[in-house]
Amino acid sequence: MRALSSSTKIVFLGLAGLSGLQLCLGQVVASVMAASSDLLDASHILHFLDVVDAFGHASVRNPANASQFLMTFAIAPAQATSQSIVTYEVDNATAVQLTFNSSVVGSAVPTGFAERFIHSEIFKRFPDVLGVVHSHTQEILPFANQADVPLVSEIHTSPAVGSQGAPIFDARNLPASVLPESQLHDLLIRNEALGDALAKTFTNDSQVVLMRGHGMSIRGPSLRDAVFNSFYIKQDATVQFQAILLGGGRTSPKALNPREVTDTGTTALTLVSRAWSLWAQQVDNEVLYTNDLRNGAKPSPTGF
Ligand SMILES: *[C@@H]1O[C@H](CO)[C@@H](O)[C@H](O)[C@H]1NC(C)=O
Ligand SMILES: *[C@@H]1O[C@H](CO)[C@@H](O)[C@H](O)[C@H]1NC(C)=O
Ligand SMILES: *[C@@H]1O[C@H](CO)[C@@H](O)[C@H](O)[C@H]1NC(C)=O
Ligand SMILES: *[C@@H]1O[C@H](CO)[C@@H](O)[C@H](O)[C@H]1NC(C)=O
Repeated sequence: MRALSSSTKIVFLGLAGLSGLQLCLGQVVASVMAASSDLLDASHILHFLDVVDAFGHASVRNPANASQFLMTFAIAPAQATSQSIVTYEVDNATAVQLTFNSSVVGSAVPTGFAERFIHSEIFKRFPDVLGVVHSHTQEILPFANQADVPLVSEIHTSPAVGSQGAPIFDARNLPASVLPESQLHDLLIRNEALGDALAKTFTNDSQVVLMRGHGMSIRGPSLRDAVFNSFYIKQDATVQFQAILLGGGRTSPKALNPREVTDTGTTALTLVSRAWSLWAQQVDNEVLYTNDLRNGAKPSPTGF
């Protein structure tokens, strides 16, 4: 489905002479252009909405090759441009090339995020997942650091949390076969084994895994969904925390029940494009962010 036929590529290349931008972007096919533009928007929007700060990252599965994903090299998300986007192998998070400069390959690609294995292993385990976000969002950390009060869906825009309690990945519970004594115990997901252990922590009920002392990882059926869910999971954590305080810490606030989670999940999917349209315009109006693909990529009705 996602692979483009060679005739599609030839048609696109034939059209590529139409604009200077497309000309200099050479052989990047239209679907990859659109996914890359979404990746830049996602990186900027997550910063604009205070989901990420200097750290954190987003990625999108390559729409032209499901065995690859697109992610920037190690750079603050707010500063990402098309020149920071790298094509990676899902198999082992190895850099293939700079997505927009095919002459920069393999080890010549600038150093990637140590934690790109979060993304590769989630894409590997879940073939339907097309977008991943990892962040250190402060609001969710109290819920990541203890298991007594699980994070649950409290508001109709955050069914992605689920009703059973978001699972917590605790590096301290890993066997030595996954995290040997000889390796850094710095909570970072630095290799395939750790990424695999994290990906296995997802439950069917929840699109987020909280990470003790660290942050959260979110999977989505599209990158736009993953960004939407990241923001509303942050809002959800604030609401739950405030509701607990308001109840004097004695009562557990009411979560959405499984039926409400399912039905608001269906509704939330229809809300993503409206939110995305607003957020994309907001980051466009800020000089800090540069999406240099904005006019080179066809708007995508669904995102990736
Ligand atoms: C898709 O990506 C994989 C992994 O990088 C690569 O081995 C394969 O050749 C690619 N397929 C195409 C059609 O480019
Ligand atoms: C990474 O995975 C790709 C695709 O399976 C493979 O071609 C490549 O050799 C692997 N690279 C390393 C360093 O393991
Ligand atoms: C691609 O990268 C090479 C090597 O760094 C550089 O010489 C070239 O100018 C780059 N091409 C574009 C279009 O940026
Ligand atoms: C989770 O979903 C998968 C795929 O639909 C299913 O095979 C599995 O049984 C489910 N697991 C649980 C615990 O419900």
